[in-house]
Amino acid sequence: MVEVDLVIKNAQELLTLSSSFKDESGLGIIQHGALAIKKERIFWVGKTQELPKKFLLDRDGLEIDATGKMVMPGLIDAHTHLIFAGSREDEFELRIQGLSYQEIAERGGGILSTVEATRKASFDELFALGKKRLDRMLCKGVTTLEAKSGYGLSLQSELKILKVLKALQESHPMDIVPTFLGAHTFPREFREDRAGYINLLTEEMIPKVAQERLAEFCDVFCESKAFTVEESKRILETGKRYGLKPKIHADQLSPGGGAELAAEVNAYSADHLEYVSQEGIKKMAEKGVTAVLLPGASFFLSMKKYPPAKDMIEQGVSVSLATDLNPGSSMTGSLPLMMTMGCTMYKMLPKEVIQAATIHAARAIGREKEIGSLEVGKEADILLLDIPNYRYLPYHFGVDHSELVVKKGTIVYQRQ
Ligand code: NIG
Ligand code: FE
Repeated sequence: MVEVDLVIKNAQELLTLSSSFKDESGLGIIQHGALAIKKERIFWVGKTQELPKKFLLDRDGLEIDATGKMVMPGLIDAHTHLIFAGSREDEFELRIQGLSYQEIAERGGGILSTVEATRKASFDELFALGKKRLDRMLCKGVTTLEAKSGYGLSLQSELKILKVLKALQESHPMDIVPTFLGAHTFPREFREDRAGYINLLTEEMIPKVAQERLAEFCDVFCESKAFTVEESKRILETGKRYGLKPKIHADQLSPGGGAELAAEVNAYSADHLEYVSQEGIKKMAEKGVTAVLLPGASFFLSMKKYPPAKDMIEQGVSVSLATDLNPGSSMTGSLPLMMTMGCTMYKMLPKEVIQAATIHAARAIGREKEIGSLEVGKEADILLLDIPNYRYLPYHFGVDHSELVVKKGTIVYQRQ
């Protein structure tokens, strides 16, 4: 007999997302699927009829019947600005009346208004805000997320945010991948001294963040109104020297060579990409840079220009979708909603948005060996959804379909 901790069986569709399956959907679907979990990992995956008889549930073990339902890997949100204080519904209203995101920033709103609120907030306040957001996301089936600093923009405030992320990682079931985004914009006190802020970033902040092991990635907002390509390159190269892996906010509001830079520095991902060039797409495909598209920001800012998602997919770029959760351009933590938007706005197919929120998202954060698909040996991050098939997921939108969320083999959410 072999002891296992959790068995889920009879799933109408079990989406493995395994690349060793070559089915038409590209999702590695097992009809009438089952899986067994031992400790934190997947122990067995296959058809329910083939579930080995020798499996024995241990004393606290559980067997779950998924008849008529769907099982898939936990969702991965590869781009969030989880930690911030305050809110900007005033700007939302101004945009409805016709002001642009950039005009609002020039009037003193935008990122800097959130920086002010976040600097004032205590560690405990930020922790409580972060926890509430994580709780909500977990119920929607997100089991891992990337989270950026970037609303501190001083050594002390950036460290405060990253320490909040660390404390959340230690106390919350969600896995958090921390990213240092000190290069989100220039803080007020450095408005007239760009070089001074870049020096602070490269000579003090990055070394300190790396030394205290508070971030895994380093990100830059590469944009005409934020950091130039040259500045971004210097920041990302410095990050790399200190062991921080590169990521870029690229070509969001204007074309600027961000995707090309992402390829040049071997970034894990280039994010946004509304204005990506053909050359940028080609280089991203060549270097294996994942595109993280953020339809919540396109939608919330009423942008007319969308990233060429289908074109990127056709050219071999791995395309992911994320929420961009932040108070200015995408005030949502709903990855399932982003999947629907990926379909309706970017014309991605249901199978493509499912890959985008699982295995491709794992690639964007360098975790594809651990999570993102249901394969033996991988972490047991699993969703049970009360839906009949995968196409139904982006189709029935604005509704929580999660019935059960398993994180590293433990049930962390169960619908009552
Ligand atoms: O990803 N692009 C820069 N940063 C955020 C917006 C942040 C804000 O407006 O507070 C984004 O869209
Ligand atoms: Fe962002």
